[in-house]
Amino acid sequence: MTSLNIVILAAGQGTRMRSDRPKILHTVGGKPLLQHVYERARELNPETTAIVYGHGGEQVRQRFPDWSAHWVEQSPQLGTGHAVQQALPVLRDDALILVLYGDVPLLQRPPLERLLSVAATDTLALLTVDMNDPTGYGRIVRDADGRVVRIVEEKDAAAEEKRITEVNTGILAVPGFKLKTWLDRLDNDNAQGEYYLTDVIAMAATEGMMIETVSAPPNDVAGVNNKRQLAALERIYQSRQAEDLLDRGVTLRDPARFDLRGDLEAVGRDVEIDVNVLLEGTVRLGHRVKIGPQVVIRDAVIGDDVEIMSHSVIEQAEIGARSRVGPFARIRPETVLAEEAHVGNFVEIKKSTLGGGTKVNHLSYIGDSEVGAGVNVGAGTITCNYDGANKHKTVIEDGAFIGSDTQLVAPVKVGRDATIGAGSTITHDAPAEKLTLSRSKQFTIEHWQRPTKQR
Ligand code: UD1
Ligand code: CA
Repeated sequence: MTSLNIVILAAGQGTRMRSDRPKILHTVGGKPLLQHVYERARELNPETTAIVYGHGGEQVRQRFPDWSAHWVEQSPQLGTGHAVQQALPVLRDDALILVLYGDVPLLQRPPLERLLSVAATDTLALLTVDMNDPTGYGRIVRDADGRVVRIVEEKDAAAEEKRITEVNTGILAVPGFKLKTWLDRLDNDNAQGEYYLTDVIAMAATEGMMIETVSAPPNDVAGVNNKRQLAALERIYQSRQAEDLLDRGVTLRDPARFDLRGDLEAVGRDVEIDVNVLLEGTVRLGHRVKIGPQVVIRDAVIGDDVEIMSHSVIEQAEIGARSRVGPFARIRPETVLAEEAHVGNFVEIKKSTLGGGTKVNHLSYIGDSEVGAGVNVGAGTITCNYDGANKHKTVIEDGAFIGSDTQLVAPVKVGRDATIGAGSTITHDAPAEKLTLSRSKQFTIEHWQRPTKQR
């Protein structure tokens, strides 16, 4: 067969999720279930991809405006056979049709490729799995010679059929022209009153089609019907990612306590990640980056030899080479630290740039600021960037020294190599190389007496 057409079934209700959100929009590794399936489908270079949706309708479609897929609505939902029927108008007779499930997100390429390689004009290929407890699944019924003759659903199965442990994953590959004729003949004369896609197996067998099974690893074909399964799949997904990182040479102190919800686009050599680290969105880590425990990094670029100490949160930021961040630091969006910057405990930095070697070591807020190189910002320094209506900018030029507990009331500029005396409230620009301070004079009251408690 010349081309591949893929149908993703995603119209199911998902009642057991007990959620207002459509099931396939729930996430594994930060990515919607349906997106995992769609991306895997695209890797197979199909000519057409059809997504059968129903529950959650427009909400599902609108979530993925850029996908090149036919969105096919199935309403009402009368079963898996009925679902595939809805997609027939966009599928080609001379194509090989691959059916995937939108709620089976962990399917890897090898079993799919095997499935596609055995399917042919005269061969239907079924992805099956052997289960210790097959309860709830469709069973693969074989004849005395071991040939597949039909699939029987749990609710329609006789007692001896229920003992079969080889079950249907629902994923199959079949020639389009055959599928069309079989689906035309489907009925809903069964325990659930549904049009079962699985009934085409008996039709194929009766016609003398070859039915080949390909067996899949159980984790690959695990589906999501409830939050327990969603949590279990998240674990499988995370441990696969952790193993992949270990293989790439990353040191994970405990692979079971590492989460990546997104893409680690680049990772250097000798990176060390301590326990309970969460990476989200798109993250790049340079060589020899060390990440301490309980750190969250989202959409950030971390340069070579950077150390992020425990309990720090970094979001939409760039951390220059050899910088040190944390413990307990918060780096907010649009922040860029140049090389060898130090950001210490209880420091928040937002939409600011820090030049090379600049230090903000303790208890400070730097927002909407342009801080030069070699600046020392003393403990408790606050840029007062907000006047209640608008945000204003603070500029601190190279080599400046800001004494502890200074408020810089923006817009304001501190010149090159300027010194600000501790405890100052700076409301006007401070000139370069000079000492500027605003501080009331210290005095002592000689004969003052401390009050005593009244009787
Ligand atoms: C189906 C199979 C069963 C298999 C099991 C594997 C049938 C009749 N049975 O059973 O043999 O062991 O999957 O998990 O095919 N869907 C629609 N529209 C519908 C019904 C379902 O799009 O009208 C979609 C669902 O969103 C889901 C998939 O099809 O992605 C499977 O539906 P589900 O109800 O979970 O099928 P099962 O009864 O579990
Ligand atoms: Ca299911």
